[in-house]
Amino acid sequence: MNRRQLIKAGLLLPATSLGAIGAAGVLASAPARAKEFVVTAKPTRLQLLGWDYPHTDVWAYNDQLPGPVISATQGDRVRIRLRNRLDQPSTIHWHGIRLPNAMDGVPGVTQAAVEPGKDFTYEFALPDAGTYWYHPHVATYEQVGRGLFGAIIVQERERVDVDQDLTWAISDIKIDRSGAIAPDFKSLHDAAHAGRLGNVILVNGQRSPATLSVRAGQRVRLRLLNSSSARIYRLKVHGHAPIVAAIDGHPCTPFAMTESILFSPGNRLDLILDCTGAPGQVFQIEDEFFPAMRNVLGLIRYSTRSAQPLRPAFNALPSNTLVEPRLEDAKKVELIVEGGALSNKATREHIWLVNGKGNDHGSHTDSHAKAPEPLYVFEKGCTVRCVIDNRTAWFHPMHFHGVVLRERLPDGSWGPFKDSTLVWPFKKQEIAFVAESHGDWMIHCHVSEHHHSGLMGTFRVVDLC
Ligand code: C2O
Ligand code: CU
Ligand code: CU
Repeated sequence: MNRRQLIKAGLLLPATSLGAIGAAGVLASAPARAKEFVVTAKPTRLQLLGWDYPHTDVWAYNDQLPGPVISATQGDRVRIRLRNRLDQPSTIHWHGIRLPNAMDGVPGVTQAAVEPGKDFTYEFALPDAGTYWYHPHVATYEQVGRGLFGAIIVQERERVDVDQDLTWAISDIKIDRSGAIAPDFKSLHDAAHAGRLGNVILVNGQRSPATLSVRAGQRVRLRLLNSSSARIYRLKVHGHAPIVAAIDGHPCTPFAMTESILFSPGNRLDLILDCTGAPGQVFQIEDEFFPAMRNVLGLIRYSTRSAQPLRPAFNALPSNTLVEPRLEDAKKVELIVEGGALSNKATREHIWLVNGKGNDHGSHTDSHAKAPEPLYVFEKGCTVRCVIDNRTAWFHPMHFHGVVLRERLPDGSWGPFKDSTLVWPFKKQEIAFVAESHGDWMIHCHVSEHHHSGLMGTFRVVDLC
């Protein structure tokens, strides 16, 4: 008998059920009461651009942009009530969190959309420490674009020794002279090209650059989140070589960021920054995706106080208990993406094609009800190897719900765990993941205008029969 047959015969537990036992163990030892949060999605008016500019009408959670931080400790249970006070349906998706399918927040797939004036309560455990985020999964291009998103910070059980632990949500916004958000969210042009790019970059809802105030010698944990609809950044921290400690929430083998790093919509990066500069110095954190059009996202500003002693070299964050892909007996599939501007396959009705089929986006309908049948059906616990074949002229940060994936690197090895993979124009990217839990899970491009104009599908995970 091979491993699969042993599992079927009930003689061997698949790695995933071991994972589930681990998670249940966490629940058993954690306090029974969930940590409670209430988030109200509604229109409001906020100052985003600075005191001498007009205010901006936005949609926000609890009148904050970004929304309130959902903060908890690994192993906690959270119960979060969404109050939808928008004039359109909404949901919340908990990006990157491994949770039961019914809590995943995808309208038409895992739940009915929450109608205006109605509430919906999400409740789940947090098996992994790290930096995650939440956002609607209805009309993401507009609801996120108008300001609905927030960070989820899950602290490690043992304290990580830093002087400051900060989160920067980086987003861009398309705004006119009067400070109003440009209303053309359904632009077919944006959907078929690189998505909607804003003309102002915000850090935590304020026009960049943001200031990181430090004292020489400090150690800072800087959690970066790309909550932009479409913009890919290439991050460069000048004068420092921060350690990349976690990617998409999950601790990785730490490495020094000596070069710039691509940072696509939905991604998170946890940097450990040792402040090796001198009192009074200022350094830039820059986006150099378009080398001729750089954006200063932040300034590292050293106070004039004398330096405190530097800490010894950073080790690593305690790792999360993730399920390792078993590559030998993996199921192999392909995900072929076609269409977009410059392609003769794109039409007004079907801008993007996934495995040869266009999703009718019905001029940007906002649920996923029109998503076709699952692209794949996997047995729970099986390892999947998927080659994403991008036959388009556009970048696609492909995001998979409900799993953590590893990317195949050019040297043939497998990279760190993440929840999305950036596939370059006319390139292929192989990934591997374990189909961990039961249900229908989304696969989509995290450029929201691509997602909602059809660049999406689902995979179904079924129990072993
Ligand atoms: Cu942030 Cu379906 O994703
Ligand atoms: Cu997600
Ligand atoms: Cu895309």
